[in-house]
Amino acid sequence: MAQADIALIGLAVMGQNLILNMNDHGFVVCAYNRTVSKVHDFLQNEAKGTKVIGAQSLEDMVSKLKKPRRIVLLVKAGQAVDDFIDKLVPLLSPGDIIIDGGNSEYRDTTRRCKSLKEKNLLFVGSGVSGGEDGARYGPSLMPGGHKEAWPHIKEIFQSIAAKVGTGEPCCDWVGDEGAGHFVKMVHNGIEYGDMQLICEAYQLMKDVLCMDHDQMAQAFSDWNKTELDSFLIEITADILKFRDTDGTHLLPKIRDSAGQKGTGKWTAISALEYGTPVTLIGEAVFARCLSSLKDERVEASKTLGGPSGVQFQGDKASFLEDIRKALYASKIISYAQGFMLLRQAAKEFGWSLNYGAIALMWRGGCIIRSVFLGKIKEAFDRDGDLQSLLLDGFFSKAVQDCQDAWRRVVSTGVQHGIPMPCFSTALSFYDGYRNAVLPANLLQAQRDYFGAHTYELLSRPGHFIHTNWTGHGGNVSSSSYNA
Ligand SMILES: *[C@@H]1O[C@H](CO)[C@@H](O)[C@H](O)[C@H]1NC(C)=O
Ligand SMILES: *[C@@H]1O[C@H](CO)[C@@H](O)[C@H](O)[C@H]1NC(C)=O
Ligand SMILES: *[C@@H]1O[C@H](CO)[C@@H](O)[C@H](O)[C@H]1NC(C)=O
Ligand SMILES: *[C@@H]1O[C@H](CO)[C@@H](O)[C@H](O)[C@H]1NC(C)=O
Repeated sequence: MAQADIALIGLAVMGQNLILNMNDHGFVVCAYNRTVSKVHDFLQNEAKGTKVIGAQSLEDMVSKLKKPRRIVLLVKAGQAVDDFIDKLVPLLSPGDIIIDGGNSEYRDTTRRCKSLKEKNLLFVGSGVSGGEDGARYGPSLMPGGHKEAWPHIKEIFQSIAAKVGTGEPCCDWVGDEGAGHFVKMVHNGIEYGDMQLICEAYQLMKDVLCMDHDQMAQAFSDWNKTELDSFLIEITADILKFRDTDGTHLLPKIRDSAGQKGTGKWTAISALEYGTPVTLIGEAVFARCLSSLKDERVEASKTLGGPSGVQFQGDKASFLEDIRKALYASKIISYAQGFMLLRQAAKEFGWSLNYGAIALMWRGGCIIRSVFLGKIKEAFDRDGDLQSLLLDGFFSKAVQDCQDAWRRVVSTGVQHGIPMPCFSTALSFYDGYRNAVLPANLLQAQRDYFGAHTYELLSRPGHFIHTNWTGHGGNVSSSSYNA
């Protein structure tokens, strides 16, 4: 008998928690796992006493679903998703909906959209963020794909998503094809950037201001009451305070070699691919790579010296406030860059993205959730077609207000030999973006000199010319070289 509103395949913790979340909101969910004993275990334990039903096979699962059937896949990204799709296709009818809630690559999602369209099935690739807790009590959901599916899944998705403000759900339709997974990927890249910025602030507090752990915890706790109010600032305060079983702080005992699962890297790769200067996320990825060379760094530290005899002379409280402003300004740059990448992808793939809705999706439920994202939403509400966050009045004023502090932090940090890849790349980006004239005139001249790549004159844009720079240049054309 068709009784279930939706089915979910893949009973790892995320899958179980999403099922229980849907159950809490009144939906009847059919649970399935390839290892069918997992279904029994789940029904006997976590799902005991709920309306969740189980399936013995995919056929059984499909027969228990109301039409149009809605099936969520929460399986390992890659081949497993294709395998399940292949098994489901012959069991489904036109108009049924397959939703991939895993961490799939956006290009795979686009490919699956195209192939399922030919079979008259609807496909949705949805970013799901917020970890296990988010899945259970309110994740950030970023669905994209076949828009015809949205009316059929909107109610379920928006009711289980995190809520902010006056109950607005952190879930809305993102766009066509792999747009949902692309937005999730950029979210993860921004998460890398936010984390690295906080790490740089921590090192400045520790090594320039010589603050102890409790003082640093207090600083982050105070910052959490400012524009920086966010999940990551909040957990940083908790982490700094945390004491080991022996009563001393745990943080300095943790090996300083960062791991990564690769989604930050994908964002940086896309940025290079589409020619968008998402420098801060790129630096955040490389900062992890550099940290992971722990043994090599230990060796290098024995021979490579830094500045000697530099001691902080200024007012500590006011420099601490400078660090806060540098973090805030850098964060604005990072989000401006992230939204530039979204714009570029939209152009590349012909997606129409709702940037304000994306900011709202990230406002709650996920790792980068913050009050700040509410401000970004407001900026896109003011101008849905905003070219850059930096051109919005609120953010341009915020950066102006922070600018002197930001420059003091970067120059002081440099003098103390503190690595600040993200603070400094953000400032360089800002100085590049706000300059009407960059030294790329010289670059064009160099390219034309050695490779006859031609250049335009300021007085005649669109008209490409070549100069015989040396007096012995041959009759080369710009197609002869590719440098
Ligand atoms: C089945 O459940 C286990 C966890 O119990 C999970 O690790 C696995 O991914 C699930 N697989 C599928 C395909 O349902
Ligand atoms: C950070 O601020 C939020 C409210 O905006 C609050 O719920 C949370 O407890 C604060 N965390 C810390 C560590 O101060
Ligand atoms: C470049 O200039 C030299 C010297 O004026 C001249 O002999 C040569 O023909 C020029 N080459 C071309 C491709 O015009
Ligand atoms: C260079 O090429 C142009 C057109 O391709 C030709 O008109 C000209 O005579 C060539 N000049 C020399 C010095 O070979």
